[in-house]
Amino acid sequence: MKKKVLVTGGTGYIGSHTAVELIKEGFEVIIIDDLSNSQAEVLNGIEKISGVRPEFVQFNLCEEDKLTAFFEKHRDIDSIIHFAASKAVGESVEKPLLYYKNNVLSLVLLLEAMKKYNISNIVFSSSCTVYGQPDKLPVTEATPFKPAESPYGNTKQIGEEILRDTCKVNKDIQAISLRYFNPVGAHDSALIGELPNGVPANLVPFITQTAAGIRQQLMVFGNDYSTPDGSAMRDYIHVVDLAVAHVIALKRLIDKKQKNNYEFFNLGTGKGLTVLQLIQVFEKVNNLKLNYKVVDRRAGDVEKIYADTTLANKELGWETKLGVEEMMRSAWKWQQQLATKKV
Ligand code: WQD
Repeated sequence: MKKKVLVTGGTGYIGSHTAVELIKEGFEVIIIDDLSNSQAEVLNGIEKISGVRPEFVQFNLCEEDKLTAFFEKHRDIDSIIHFAASKAVGESVEKPLLYYKNNVLSLVLLLEAMKKYNISNIVFSSSCTVYGQPDKLPVTEATPFKPAESPYGNTKQIGEEILRDTCKVNKDIQAISLRYFNPVGAHDSALIGELPNGVPANLVPFITQTAAGIRQQLMVFGNDYSTPDGSAMRDYIHVVDLAVAHVIALKRLIDKKQKNNYEFFNLGTGKGLTVLQLIQVFEKVNNLKLNYKVVDRRAGDVEKIYADTTLANKELGWETKLGVEEMMRSAWKWQQQLATKKV
């Protein structure tokens, strides 16, 4: 009997890539998404890649009556992978209440539903933003949280604390938080990828849209950081490597392999790359020149962060397989494929 997994936010960037990997591993996937930052058309891409079109229900998890009706109807859900959240750092500064409601209330309602409907496993989409600007690099899971640099990062810190406190008194709930560094790239088929609504806040979609002529010029936010070339440093991880880690974490919960019922892991490559270094890789692998200029720093940015991935490597038996060249090649291939799409 196939195990049924609810993927909230499953038409989003990481959610859709994870749905593909879950189907590949024999899971039955059902998606809840409010389509506030994705399109239902993503289901076509998932179906073309995997041969299976996941069941899809459109609503926001904060709509409590719809959430209850959903779980009344679907009594056969074994586990949840919870992606659904707002995730634009800059927007969260402008609209904090939207972020606290959408990211925190939805998690509370989901956990209440898990208790009511006896669902024991949840994988939570967390973020390296929980660390703030670390004093020491690379960051391990023991690195203490600094005050979050944005309401977005704070919602992820609060989310992890909610899970920790819930698991402390509910031994029948098993949870894993996955702290993503910077997810980039796209599925090799170029049938799914990152599709931000409006002007991209993140670096790589802005790079590919500039290369495609959709954006005039990329602004590099600062080159006066203490890094090899002055631009900020991040740990870029291929979205497919990230998706695979979610399936491994889910299996750890299902197979009851956890050391305790709340765990958390860094998901990065362990390598730091600056903005200018990433641009150079993009230009080299795609044989093009990118139009960019250096401007002032962006408020809220941390200077540099990259992961110590020892714990995930050891406990999850997970290693990243795709390097930065493949990240940049697949990101560009996806952007070019988008251009051929009927608008
Ligand atoms: C990366 C670097 C910018 C745009 C992201 C997500 C967050 C979390 C962590 C998952 C920074 C620079 C960017 C541009 C630039 N992920 N940049 N010009 O801020 O690290 O956060 O990863 O939870 O949700 O937002 O990612 O891609 O915005 O920025 O120079 O036009 O690129 O200053 O140094 P960030 P980003």
